[in-house]
Amino acid sequence: VTAEKGGFDHFMLKEIHEQPKAYRDTMLGRIDEKTHKVVFPNLNMTPEYIRSIRQIHIVACGTAYHAGLVGGSVIEQLIRVPVSFEVASEYRYRNPIITPDTLVIVVSQSGETADTLAGLREAQANGAHVLAITNVVGSSIARDANDVIATLAGPEIAVASTKAYTSQIIAFNLLGLYMADIRGTMEASEIAHVIAAMQSLPEQVESLLAQSESIKAYAEHISKHEHLFFIGRGLDYAVAMEGSLKLKEISYIHSEAYAAGELKHGTLALIEEGIPVIALATQDALLEKTVSNIKEVKARGAEVMAITYEEHVADLMRSVDQVFAIPKTLPLLMPALSVVPLQLLAYYASLALGHDVDKPRNLAKSVTVE
Ligand code: AGP
Repeated sequence: VTAEKGGFDHFMLKEIHEQPKAYRDTMLGRIDEKTHKVVFPNLNMTPEYIRSIRQIHIVACGTAYHAGLVGGSVIEQLIRVPVSFEVASEYRYRNPIITPDTLVIVVSQSGETADTLAGLREAQANGAHVLAITNVVGSSIARDANDVIATLAGPEIAVASTKAYTSQIIAFNLLGLYMADIRGTMEASEIAHVIAAMQSLPEQVESLLAQSESIKAYAEHISKHEHLFFIGRGLDYAVAMEGSLKLKEISYIHSEAYAAGELKHGTLALIEEGIPVIALATQDALLEKTVSNIKEVKARGAEVMAITYEEHVADLMRSVDQVFAIPKTLPLLMPALSVVPLQLLAYYASLALGHDVDKPRNLAKSVTVE
């Protein structure tokens, strides 16, 4: 069994460590080294169709939905088409406005999630083109979709999704660059710049994984608490949601993810002496605002751990209790790095509490009931 886990104690830890490879595999064959552009030779979407898209719906559940939040925000920035984010179990019951110029992107690691499959069918019944981002090429969702981008992260066994999430983010970035090129919303030099940054991610994740011990120590501390908060703005908020889900799912510690600016509209009342708050602060344009939200919780006694990149460590140290530094990349790629310490945090907290990391209570790897 340990051999199956590649020498790791759990599948989850193995899969966290497989992320550098998963990033590389998801990019493999999709970057033209001569033109520095993204290529998707097998997509059925024509350039004419891509130019005609007027709105995008992203439909998924759980962690795949969180990857959609990151990926959809990136696509919206790169191609300037409105994107809406839909929890699959809600999507088809709210009579969504789906037109032939709506691209529906369904995201699913397993490709078998019943709600996501039902969303796909609803979209197709209304004439939309459905593109699936999935890790299982022979799955129901892959079979039924009009187009498939395989994430190629390799089998994911642990119930808590890790490498599937990050490879979905890579796939979304590739798709965004591909469509931006066709729609003419980015210069070739800008596309090449993002691609170069993406190609550095695997190595950057490796350097993050080498710092696991400091996250482990923090996780042991966290495991003694009953409640905690994750805060962030923009893409940091999307990553906060994923960090919170991961922690709840396997450590059973209650946590909430909040858009940092929204705390003062109610949730701040829950902040009391000693409560841990994990603040994601990787988005340059929003940093100052996030810091003022950090000060709000600090003033109410919270104990804050910030995740940021090296350049801001010294600055942030003045307002928080501790900082975990991640390598620097472009703001839109930050989630591919900032989520890694949160995955490790959930893992080590679960371990410290003696839970079954790979098979948390009440949950299944793939949810085939609606
Ligand atoms: C992730 O850690 C969860 N186990 C869960 O939210 C999962 O992402 C969700 O059920 C969707 O699964 P899918 O990607 O296989 O569709």
